[in-house]
Amino acid sequence: MKKIAIIGGTGLTQISDLNIINREQIATPYGSPSAEFVTGELNHKQVVFLARHGNPHSIPPHRINYRANMWALKHLGVESIIAVAAVGGITSLMEPACLALPDQIIDYSYDRKHTFFDDEFSPVTHIDFTAPYSQSLREQLITAAANANIKLVTNGTYGCTQGPRLETTAEIKRMERDGCDLVGMTGMPEAALARELELEYAALAVVANWGAGKTEGEITMAEIEQHLHTGMANVLALLKAFIAL
Ligand code: HPA
Repeated sequence: MKKIAIIGGTGLTQISDLNIINREQIATPYGSPSAEFVTGELNHKQVVFLARHGNPHSIPPHRINYRANMWALKHLGVESIIAVAAVGGITSLMEPACLALPDQIIDYSYDRKHTFFDDEFSPVTHIDFTAPYSQSLREQLITAAANANIKLVTNGTYGCTQGPRLETTAEIKRMERDGCDLVGMTGMPEAALARELELEYAALAVVANWGAGKTEGEITMAEIEQHLHTGMANVLALLKAFIAL
């Protein structure tokens, strides 16, 4: 099996079932990654874990050093990445606490360091991004979900906003017209940087709330935390089933 990394998002700062073997700080040409890289065994298989927002959770989405994170994972010899991310649900299947495996992305983020091909020494490079997520990893995750009897929405378009604020009702309406099913703040440039480094990458989204304006009233942190708590238990079960494949 390929060397796997799990990137944990909001609600997944550490994996309690991970039998920790090693913790490592990695310096990169792009600065410091979000946190130390934790190597451990999950279900007797070795995985690397990184807390995207730091441990404890302290880095907002727009300040994450995505390039340092991805460069360090490549440096560690990682080949496949499962990126867990909290999202808002836009279309009807994406109800709070459910898990979804997006297959497309629309990027609304800005002002982020989004490429490794950025200086005068790099050749002008246009990676293919037609299918932004690894189809092979997606299929394995779908099989794992079926094996573990975990409900998983197996398609969807992830819209990445800049944050850290949540969206307005009009923004979510526009995103829905654009074809977005999910809204999150960390999916890009992470996915594109993975592709630039030729890393297999899939996003496992956990719906924390309905997108702005989809329900009466405001979106509360209490609601988000409660749904993430439920969803993350399924994420862990799914990750274990994936590792057991
Ligand atoms: N919008 C953007 N990102 C999010 C949301 C949301 O509603 N919920 C969790 N992450």
